[in-house]
Amino acid sequence: MDFFEALTRKRACRDFTDEPVSEEHVDRLLYAASWAPIASNRPYRHCILVDDPNVIQAIRQISPSLQPESPLLLVIYSDLELAHASVGKVGDRCTAVDAGASGENVLLAAAALGLGAQFTMISAMSGIRTILGLPSSCRVDLIIPIGHAERMLPPVSAEKPNRAQKVYRNQYGVE
Ligand SMILES: Cc1cc2nc3c(=O)[nH]c(=O)nc-3n(C[C@H](O)[C@H](O)[C@H](O)COP(=O)(O)O)c2cc1C
Repeated sequence: MDFFEALTRKRACRDFTDEPVSEEHVDRLLYAASWAPIASNRPYRHCILVDDPNVIQAIRQISPSLQPESPLLLVIYSDLELAHASVGKVGDRCTAVDAGASGENVLLAAAALGLGAQFTMISAMSGIRTILGLPSSCRVDLIIPIGHAERMLPPVSAEKPNRAQKVYRNQYGVE
């Protein structure tokens, strides 16, 4: 699948079948996650794969807004201690940008592999950190449910993307 087709097929998926995600696909998703930029190039962004139904259930229990019941969660987290040591206070923002870049790669890879996925950010991120046994210096940034789509939204129109964004040229307000 070509990049621009993957862009239009990358829709938030909220209904999954029980079919597990193959190890081969998991490898491709992790590969995509890793090929996203990191400020300072220090390794402070990492992933945890959650495919144990008990752990998924524990996460769902503290996260009512985690709607999809997927066979796999890909959790992206940042080691804030290392980020601050690498780039200082701006590391707070860098880590969020880095996690988003990595997550978008995962969504695009999932679309290219014919899998469904979506971003999830929930208020109980620190509770999830506890469930996953992450040290307190780490922050859970994104939870990405992934699986085979039971029901997938149709691709967005390639000609007319439904994205609200303003584009100015050279100066704010100038089109
Ligand atoms: C930072 C971020 C957080 C999101 N959190 C959630 C979420 O908690 N639950 C959810 O169903 N969708 C979540 N989404 C998915 C968006 O709602 C979705 O991308 C949007 O509805 C557009 O749909 P589309 O991606 O299919 O075009 C999130 C997206 C982003 C970028």
